[in-house]
Amino acid sequence: MYTTAHLDLPPLVGVSGSVRLPGSKSISNRVLLLAGLSEGTTRVVDLLASDDTRVMLDALRALGCAIVPDGDALLITGLGGRLHAREARLFLGNAGTAMRPLTAALALLAADQGGVFELSGIARMHERPIGDLVEALRPLGCRIDYLGNPGYPPLRLAPGTLQLGAPIRVRGDVSSQFLTALLLALPLVARERDLVVEVIGELISKPYIEITLNLLRRFGIAVQREGWQRFTIPRGSAYRSPGEIPVEGDASSASYFIAAGAIAAIGAPLRIEGVGESSIQGDIRFVEAARAMGADITSEANALNVKRGAWPLKAIELDCNAIPDAAMTLAVMALYAQGTTRLTNIASWRVKETDRIAAMATELRKLGATVQAGDDFIAVTPPERWRAASIHTYDDHRIAMCFSLAAFNPLAPVTHAMAVRGAEVYQLSPGQGPQALPVRIEDPKCVGKTYPDYFEHLFQVAQARAEDIPVLTVDGPTASGKGTLAGELADRLGFHLLDSGSLYRATALAALRRGVPIDDEAAVARLAGALKLRFDGPHAWLDGEEVTHALRDELVGQSASRIAAFPLVRQALHQLQLSFRRLPGLVADGRDMGTVLFPGAQLKVFLTASTARRAERRYNQLISKGFPANLDTLLADLEARDARDKSRSVAPLRPAEDARLLDNSEMSIDQSVEAVLAWWEAGKPFAASGAAAPEAG
Ligand code: C5P
Repeated sequence: MYTTAHLDLPPLVGVSGSVRLPGSKSISNRVLLLAGLSEGTTRVVDLLASDDTRVMLDALRALGCAIVPDGDALLITGLGGRLHAREARLFLGNAGTAMRPLTAALALLAADQGGVFELSGIARMHERPIGDLVEALRPLGCRIDYLGNPGYPPLRLAPGTLQLGAPIRVRGDVSSQFLTALLLALPLVARERDLVVEVIGELISKPYIEITLNLLRRFGIAVQREGWQRFTIPRGSAYRSPGEIPVEGDASSASYFIAAGAIAAIGAPLRIEGVGESSIQGDIRFVEAARAMGADITSEANALNVKRGAWPLKAIELDCNAIPDAAMTLAVMALYAQGTTRLTNIASWRVKETDRIAAMATELRKLGATVQAGDDFIAVTPPERWRAASIHTYDDHRIAMCFSLAAFNPLAPVTHAMAVRGAEVYQLSPGQGPQALPVRIEDPKCVGKTYPDYFEHLFQVAQARAEDIPVLTVDGPTASGKGTLAGELADRLGFHLLDSGSLYRATALAALRRGVPIDDEAAVARLAGALKLRFDGPHAWLDGEEVTHALRDELVGQSASRIAAFPLVRQALHQLQLSFRRLPGLVADGRDMGTVLFPGAQLKVFLTASTARRAERRYNQLISKGFPANLDTLLADLEARDARDKSRSVAPLRPAEDARLLDNSEMSIDQSVEAVLAWWEAGKPFAASGAAAPEAG
């Protein structure tokens, strides 16, 4: 997950390959609860790992369920309808899908078998209503006390006396989770009689009730329903573990990749694994909407294949009541359509994570689109001229994910007005719009709510032109602090890191270990060309063996400096170094990053510090890692290496002509990082918030 302040998406020009969706949130927590109440052990496969499922798992553990990992799956041994723990305090974060059903289940169990339970969550959870569910449970003999404000969690559940004679009534027009909670929990006490739930008011979010009924069926409970008003749980119902149950991929999460395929899978389809058209999730109906806009989609049992069909996309007018979450993705697809797309019946957008109608309108306008918005609709006309925008995400995962699709702007169809202007201004290439603009996503970690790895997955399947993937180079002499600075910059920007020195070091280490003479240029170059090297953060492996520590050895460093003077060795490592330029960007540290490897880098920094400072830093670094060191020897060695690096015939150490010089002798690491980030920002096209963003060109 990207935890950076913002994430800049380079302009993207294609998608291909396959992506595996995270598990559906709605299905995950229902399955966990059902497995936890069942008799026997259930193997749950492809569960979503997120905040909301973590709190549910913690609660089940506290209640006495055995939960053990089994490969990528979880084995959950349920309570079989009998309380093991008679007392527990459960913290449920902000997970409505845990709070509501656990309240119903534990209130019934406490009334039936005795027990005291406290359920609480984060502050926002204590503002989310639960009174309608409590009102439905109390007439059954459940004792439920509000520990804070009446009508809201936290709650205390205490022993009572079950009375199952009366009809059970629940409101359906506030949250369908109240009905879901009752349906999931009532089979616990349906031993001797049919239990009937009546819905008061119009039931909202019916697709979610369908998921509930479907999963109950998988666990052996056949609820009968009359319309959406009466639900009957038959006498003698008992949860039976299905043995193994796979969690479908999240259909709302699929919408971003379906859209990406419709826009940018130009040859082969993009494969989306984890959900097919027969999914039990309501948002799967996004597939039909995407088809109406032109997407070419085929479905398998558990996968979708999507490619571009009609192009430009077709503008549509659609009632989105059944797919409110996925409909946000349509609003961004509209940027690639011919004409105006109008999405109606979306009033519920106003009361979600944020006022989504206002948020979508504001952010789409930043990109240059013309947007009309009302109480329950939004109408989007594509930009005539795209602008580089910094997208505010309002702590709303879906805003962050759907606006990533704006990064495909180089593919945007050329409108007539664009073409007229573009012919002279932009030198249009066939099939390509006049723009190639990055898109900035603010606070990218908000995707953690449902899809922590969203951007990683996007970068696995998306393509950018190499020259559009930003590179920041940090060159400079040995022990100038490049490594630390570059690592820190990569973290702050969410970029990949190339520590090119480690490639020379690894080559030297391989030569030393295999007895290849260090001065045999051809033999060392052959070694360099066939290095089996793998990096993971600060760790490095050579031929499968971890060499993180060995690479820092002084003898290895000195040998690296010698072999680095050989043109054949440098050539052998060239391609490998270029391959580090991957989405979303690269920080490259070395001697010739700005001059030879990445001459087109967006920012080149040349770092220096006095020889004395560098010797002192190297000394401290070695001592702290437990290597022996001597300051005078280090100083002499640094000078010798500088001389070798500067005087060699190929790629000598020197600043690129357009490099910014940074002498960090008297600067802290933080100060150096801030200085470089300020230069980096100055080169970005995003307008400061509030001001109009500059246009393409
Ligand atoms: O930066 P580091 O000390 O790890 O690099 C080891 C050696 O590799 C350096 O002394 C330098 O001679 C060589 N090198 C190079 N070009 C690079 C990176 C390192 O010549 N881009």
